Amino acid sequence: MRPMPSSRSKTVYVCQSCGTNSPKWVGRCTGCGGWNTMVEEEEGSSISLPVAGPAVPYEEIQQQDGIRLRTGNAEFDRVLGGGIVAGSLVLLGGEPGIGKSTLLLQIAEALSSSAHKVLYVAGEESVQQIRLRGERIGIKGAHLFLSAETCLERAFEEASRIKPDALIVDSIQTVFTEKLGSVPGSISQIRECTGQLLTFSKREQISTFLIGHITKDGSLAGPKVLEHLVDTVLYFEGDRHQNQKIIRAVKNRFGPANELGIFQMTGKGLTCVENASRLFLSERPAQVPGSVVLCTIEGTRPVLVEIQALVSDSTYGTARRTANGVDPNRVALLLAMLDKRVGLHLLGSDVYVNVAGGLELTEPAIDLALVMAIISSFRNRPVSPATVVFGEVGLAGEVRAVSMADCRVREAALLGFERVVLPKGNLPLSDHVSGLKITGCTSVQECLDWLDSRR
Ligand code: TYD
Ligand code: MG
Repeated sequence: MRPMPSSRSKTVYVCQSCGTNSPKWVGRCTGCGGWNTMVEEEEGSSISLPVAGPAVPYEEIQQQDGIRLRTGNAEFDRVLGGGIVAGSLVLLGGEPGIGKSTLLLQIAEALSSSAHKVLYVAGEESVQQIRLRGERIGIKGAHLFLSAETCLERAFEEASRIKPDALIVDSIQTVFTEKLGSVPGSISQIRECTGQLLTFSKREQISTFLIGHITKDGSLAGPKVLEHLVDTVLYFEGDRHQNQKIIRAVKNRFGPANELGIFQMTGKGLTCVENASRLFLSERPAQVPGSVVLCTIEGTRPVLVEIQALVSDSTYGTARRTANGVDPNRVALLLAMLDKRVGLHLLGSDVYVNVAGGLELTEPAIDLALVMAIISSFRNRPVSPATVVFGEVGLAGEVRAVSMADCRVREAALLGFERVVLPKGNLPLSDHVSGLKITGCTSVQECLDWLDSRR
């Protein structure tokens, strides 16, 4: 039903998924096309951003790099690009129940144990609940302060009194500023609060972490509209039923984007996973058709993962295509290429693709492994489990060189693989890896011929 406009103050309709404003109510957002997303909010929600002051000569600007604070949590430091930058604003997003509060409580403990003060503003749970969870995962919290405050102005007062090194806001959807009349969690509140937190963190040089809930498709977002405001955006990837928890730096003003932090949820909270490849390969079936190991570069580190394909005759008129962890469009494109260039007629078959372990693979270097997994399942012949495959595949069926080939090969050797199939364009490798057989290919057809010759 169409909401009635209020008569007392000037209102505006704001889309709750993308933040588009409209003076009148509309059924469909003109920004993102979402239906029924416009909600009436009070006008005047201009964001408070920091006042910059006069321009400064480039040469006189002081380097800030020395002020990185290492938490001692290897994976968290890595995903931030080498520790916490003083005065930075970090958004940690993820589905409810994935482990955001647990992780930041552990980070608070890590900081607190090295005599850094932390203020944890908890709008979601009572301080007793947090204490209870803390007890369970062995948190002492010598310099940790908890506050159940949800009013931002009063939280700032507390922060000014305690003068913490880090401030944690759990979650941005539960805090509100008195400046606006709209309810906590509405787009204008979320944006205004983040703007104020940005100003505060920069002015007081307090590193600030915001927790933000997102739904799986990111639609009921809220946090999505904040991405451009904050310095760093970290997202939990995969779903919450998985034991391994992957955090990706989607954006980072102080380090490489796309860096991964890999954790495992245990009874004692989240523990760092040192060898990611070993974790992702731990449950791999041996000698099963359709399973291929590939090496992907995530941020700055190589990770070996298993990609699985299942090709079966379509029982219905239209073939089904499902892709988990890879772009379905990429799969469709590679299937068309296989049909046209390699003569593999899969267009009438159901094809399912899955990346084991919940990782989302986006780089083109995964193509060749994807193609080999599909072919392997179609022919019902396994690819040797001691083989690692990577390479980009073009529409003509050509195999193209990829970045960081040496790094990928070294990771394969480290994990005890015997052979690497890669683009010929990446050869010769700059350093020799002993005990590893290297096969360079220029086309998918060549790769297939080589596979057949080994049978
Ligand atoms: P939580 O951190 O509260 O998730 P979020 O803040 O993202 O909503 O909890 C994550 C889940 O992890 C919760 O279902 C309970 C579980 N868990 C463990 O398995 N082990 C632990 O030591 C803790 C603290 C939580
Ligand atoms: Mg929580």
